Amino acid sequence: MNDAQHDLPFGRWIQSRIYSAGVFGRRPSVPTHPAALEELGLKAMSPAARDYVQTGAGAGSTMTANRAAFDKHRIVPRMLRDVSRRDQSITLLGRELPSPLLTAPIGVLEMAHPEADLAVARGARAAQTPMIISSQASYPMEQIAGALGDHPSWFQLYWSNQPSVVESFVRRAEAIDAEAIVVTLDTTVLGWRTLDLDRAFLPFARGMGIAQYTSDPAFQALVEARVAADDLPTPDGRPTPTAVRSLLSITRNYPGDFRDNLRSAHPRAAVQTFLDVFSRTDLTWADLATLRAMTKLPILVKGVQSADDARLALEHGVDGIIVSNHGGRQVDGAIGSLDALAEIVPVVDGTVPVLFDSGIRCGADVYKVLALGASAVCIGRPYVYGLAIAGADGVREVLEHFRAELDLMMATTGVTSIAEIDRSTLA
Ligand SMILES: Cc1cc2nc3c(=O)[nH]c(=O)nc-3n(C[C@H](O)[C@H](O)[C@H](O)COP(=O)(O)O)c2cc1C
Repeated sequence: MNDAQHDLPFGRWIQSRIYSAGVFGRRPSVPTHPAALEELGLKAMSPAARDYVQTGAGAGSTMTANRAAFDKHRIVPRMLRDVSRRDQSITLLGRELPSPLLTAPIGVLEMAHPEADLAVARGARAAQTPMIISSQASYPMEQIAGALGDHPSWFQLYWSNQPSVVESFVRRAEAIDAEAIVVTLDTTVLGWRTLDLDRAFLPFARGMGIAQYTSDPAFQALVEARVAADDLPTPDGRPTPTAVRSLLSITRNYPGDFRDNLRSAHPRAAVQTFLDVFSRTDLTWADLATLRAMTKLPILVKGVQSADDARLALEHGVDGIIVSNHGGRQVDGAIGSLDALAEIVPVVDGTVPVLFDSGIRCGADVYKVLALGASAVCIGRPYVYGLAIAGADGVREVLEHFRAELDLMMATTGVTSIAEIDRSTLA
C-alpha cells in the first residue's frame, strides 16, 4: 500500500500507477486483459503445470458454460449519480473486509511457482484479500499462516476417509486461527480430467500437493503403520527415466533430509497412503453433524450447484454456501455456475452468505456475481497466472486489478456501495 492511495479511490489509484509508470516506458508486468493474463500465465508454466491448471473434465464444456453464463447477463449503466465516493467493503461472517474478494483454494501451486502458497499468502495479504488455504497445498498450513501473519484465512477441507486425519486437519486449522472451514463437496473422486489423463500425470502420485498430509501427525501415524507392515507396491521391470524422476520428486517433496529420504521407504509410503485416504465417497449430508460437533468455526460447503442441495445445506446447519463447479474440473456437460447462483440465491434468502466461483475472469464478472445476489466471490485461475508470472507480486497485482476494475465499474455504472449492486443493475 502506498500513501498516494489515500487521496484516490482504489481504481483511480491503480489506474494512475499504471499510466504514470507508462510515462517511463514501463508496462504492467501482469496484464490487465483477462485473455492476455491467461496467455502469459500459461506460457510461464511447464507443459504439465499448464495442463494441470487448464484442464476441465472431459471435453471441457462446463468451462465453456461457465463463461457463457456470464455473457447472458448484461449491465445497464446509470448516469449522473454522485459517484465521487465509492466503498466496496463488505462484512462477511462478522469480519469487515475492504473488498468482496477471496482467493479460491487451489492445490499443487508449486507447479506454477516454487514459493506456491507462501507467495499467494504474501500477495493476498498485500492486496488485503483473505486466503482460503487448500488441503492440497504445497506447504503445511502452519508455514502458510506464517506468511499470512495476522491476515485472515479460511481452511478448505477435503474429507479424508480417515477420521483421525479430518480431525487433525480441523485442529490445525483452529490452531493457525483460520476463521472458517470450507468443505469441498464436489471432489469425493477426481473428475475425468482429460489433459492430465493424456499426459498420464497426477501430481499427487509424484509427491506434489500433499504437504498438509506429510506434515500431519495423524497421517504420519498411518505412514508409519504402512512402513512397519512393509505394505508398498514393488516396481515392475527396469526403472525408466520418468520413474527415476518421479522417485526424486517424491523424495524431494517429503519433509526431512533428501539423502535420508532417498534411503527411506517413508516418502513412497506417504504417496501411497495419500492416494488411499484422500477422500470418502460415502460422505452424506448427515456427516456434516460430525464436523459441527468437532469445531466452533463457521462451516461453509463448496460445490453446491442446485437449489435442492442449497436447501439441504441449510437444513444441515451450514454457515455459508459456495456456489462452485470447481472451475468445470469435475463434471463435463454441467450447467454454468452463474446459472446455478441465480437459482440458489432466492432459496437461501439471505439466511447465510452465498459465495461464488467458477469462470470469474475480471472485475465486470465480479460485478455480475454480486448483482445476482452473492455476498462475495472467490478468484481462482487468474491469480495462479499472476503467481506463475511474478510470484507474490503477480498475485497481488491480479487481485489489485480485480479490485480496481470493480471500483471503476461502480463509478461507471452509478453505484457507490456493494449493497447497491443488485438485480436492478442488470438488463
Ligand atoms: C489447478 C486447480 C487446483 C484446484 N485445487 C482445489 C483444491 O485444492 N480445493 C478446492 O476446493 N478447489 C480447488 N480448485 C477449484 C477452485 O477452488 C475454484 O473452484 C475454481 O478454480 C474456480 O474456477 P475458475 O478458476 O475457472 O474461476 C482448483 C482449481 C484449479 C484450477
